Parts: sequence; C-alpha cells; structure tokens
Amino acid sequence: MVKEHMEQISKGLEDINLKWTKLTSIDGEKGILKYGGYKIEDIIKGKALVEEVQYLFLHGELPNKRQLADFQGKIHDGYSVPKYVIDAITNLPYESDAVALQMNAFAALAATEKFKWDKQADRDVAAKVIGNMATITAAAYRHISGMKPLEPEPSSSYAESFLKAAFGKKPSQQEIDAINTALILYMDHEVPASTTAGLVVVSTLADMYSGIVGALAALKGPLHGGAAEAAISQFAQIGDPAKAEEWFNQNIVTGKSRLMGFGHRVYKTYDPRAKIFKSMAVDLIKNNREAEKMYKIALKVEELGIKNMASKGIYPNTDFFSGITYMSLGFPLKNNIYTAIFALSRVTGWMGHFIEYVEEQHRLIRPRAVYTGPEDRSFIPISRR
Ligand SMILES: CC(C)(COP(=O)(O)OP(=O)(O)OC[C@H]1O[C@@H](n2cnc3c(N)ncnc32)[C@H](O)[C@@H]1OP(=O)(O)O)[C@@H](O)C(=O)NCCC(=O)NCCS
Repeated sequence: MVKEHMEQISKGLEDINLKWTKLTSIDGEKGILKYGGYKIEDIIKGKALVEEVQYLFLHGELPNKRQLADFQGKIHDGYSVPKYVIDAITNLPYESDAVALQMNAFAALAATEKFKWDKQADRDVAAKVIGNMATITAAAYRHISGMKPLEPEPSSSYAESFLKAAFGKKPSQQEIDAINTALILYMDHEVPASTTAGLVVVSTLADMYSGIVGALAALKGPLHGGAAEAAISQFAQIGDPAKAEEWFNQNIVTGKSRLMGFGHRVYKTYDPRAKIFKSMAVDLIKNNREAEKMYKIALKVEELGIKNMASKGIYPNTDFFSGITYMSLGFPLKNNIYTAIFALSRVTGWMGHFIEYVEEQHRLIRPRAVYTGPEDRSFIPISRR
C-alpha cells in the first residue's frame, strides 16, 4: 500500500515547475546558464560589476550609467544598519556558524522593519537589503575571527566595499575582480532549495526579511550552499595530492560519503560556473600557499570523480572550486563563512524571485501529503494505555 502511494508524490519535488521566471534559465544537459537571456560567460567577459547584474535581477534590464549610479546610491544607504542588527551577530559566540549569524541579523530586521509588499517600493527595499547584506556578512566574518565589525564605505564597487569592510584594508584590483566574479556566479540559480524555502515563506505574505531567513536556513545544509565549505574541507582532510586516490577509494568508491561539490539536480554535465571558478583559481592561488595546495588536491579529486561518475551525469558543480577562491582572498576555512559569502551573492536572486512571485504570480504555497498511516483506530485514554 505504501509503495502504491509513493508513486503519487514527487520525491524532492523533482520536475515540479513552481513558478514562471524571467530571471534565470538553465540548460542542464548542455551546461548553459543565462541571466535574463545573457550567457554567464559573456557577463563575466564583459567585466560587469556585481551591481549591474543585481540591477538586472531586480529591474529586468541592464542599467545605463545614470541608473547604475542611482542604484549604487540605494545600496550605499543600506550599508548602515541599526546597532541591534550588529548586536544580533556579536552577542553570539565566536564559534557560531556564519550563516546562522546572518539569519539572526535578518531576524532582527524582520522583527523591526515595517515592510509591506508594494510594487512601488519592493525594489528599493531590495537595493537597501543588498547593502545590509554586505554589512552583515562582513560583520559575521569579523566576529568569527574575533575582530570588531566595520561598516562598509561607499567606494567604486560593491565588491571593493565588502572586502574592505571584511579585512579592514584596501583590496588589490585582482582581489576585487575575483570577488566580483564570484558574487555574479552565485547570484541566482532558478528555484533551488533555498529560493524555494524563501518562496514558501513569502507566499504567506510574510515580509522580505523573513523570506531571507527561511532561504538562509535552507542554504546552510551541506547538500546545498554548505557544499562550498564541505568541498574544500574534503581537500583539507586529504591533505596531499598523493593521498587523493586512497581517500577517494575509501570514501567515495565504497559509497561511505558523497563527493561534495559534485552532482546537481539540474546539471547532468560540467557546471559552467565551476569552469569559471577553476580557471580563475590558476592565478589567484599564487597569493596563498594553502589555497595552492587545496587546488592541486582538487584537481586530482576532480579527475577521479569524473572518471568514476561522469557516466551517471555527475560532474563538478559550482561549489567544487569556489572555496579555493575565498581561501586565496584570505578567508579561512572556518564556521561556514564560504557559505555566508554564497548568501551575500544569492540574496539578490532570492529577492528577485520573491518579487516576481508576490507581484505577478502570487498564491499561497500549500502542497498536500499522501497519508499512509493506519486508518480508523479507536482512541484509548492514557490511563488505559
Ligand atoms: C546536489 C545533489 C543533492 C543532487 O542530487 P539529486 O538530484 O538529489 O540526486 P540524488 O541524491 O537522488 O542522487 C542520485 C544518485 O547519484 C548519486 N550521487 C549524486 N551526487 C553524488 C555525489 N556528489 N557523490 C556520490 N554520489 C552521488 C547518489 O548516491 C544516487 O545514487 P543511487 O541512485 O545509486 O542511489 C547531489 O548531487 C549531492 O548530494 N551532491 C553533493 C553535495 C553538493 O555538492 N551539493 C551542491 C549542489 S550545487
């Protein structure tokens, strides 16, 4: 009976179309990712600023210079957050998970911001949240590192302002370009678990901030955003390229563990974002010996993973090499900070989908469950059980 019922559900909501979108399209067979019709490779080659792509996700078009300056101004307004938002981070132990710190900060905003879904105002709130997120993420990083938070300052770019607030010094152009690229690559990916979780929240007409808390909670897990840190943790555990094959045979071939940073619900070929992260790492790792070691191990593990699993459509995904970028920039492998940087980028995609859904396609998300338990039992009071 259970088996018969099982056929009526879609496990993991596979192949369910939750919404229409003009934001992102993925061809999982060919490995093509486009934002609003623009190929991801062209956006990166065209040296777009993160803010240009954020604008595209919120307004549907790339901005001209005047629109960009205006949008950047709105982001800058968001760099300043109330003290209790920073306290929501710094009141927690230094050992805290960085994504949970972001959740706490956004829960504080959900508690206090007077938000109402409103077509005239939603995009301005989103621009401000993008600013808030830079402050919150830099503060989370500094707190887990035992340093006092610094507020980002307006500069020539979002990438520069974030890095400067995180490290307290002016970043190099190479570092700015690298985080700019990473933040574009992670900005949206249609309706993965985090976006879906956030959409469930805002479908109740709960506020934008609560939707972000829901999305962050889903992102945290190792099967989703947590894979960014889990992937590089494997390389750290292996410790030496010469030990990669033995580790792979003991852990992956035996089925004891999943290879983190490999496999995807939608891509059945090489994730185009992973290709860009991999090629970007070649130069970046020259600045950081630990990251260089991780990269060499990653290359060996990648080779073994593809040899073993490509026939099943399991290839590197975006999280396989991204941690190496963050490590090269000076972010340590610690407290889920790599996943928090993922969220710094993805918050724009989340809000783009929330706005699209609430403004154009709104309906409460309320699926059904197929009951498979016992029918018609007589209730026996506890005194007789
Ligand atoms: C992302 C992920 C959950 C998507 O997979 P999915 O569509 O839900 O596929 P399933 O979990 O149903 O797995 C299907 C099969 O592929 C295998 N598989 C999928 N990814 C695998 C991986 N990374 N390592 C080893 N085996 C994997 C499963 O074991 C399963 O095998 P089986 O059919 O023999 O039981 C999965 O690939 C995974 O766990 N990857 C590792 C975590 C990760 O990198 N996540 C980031 C995604 S961007």
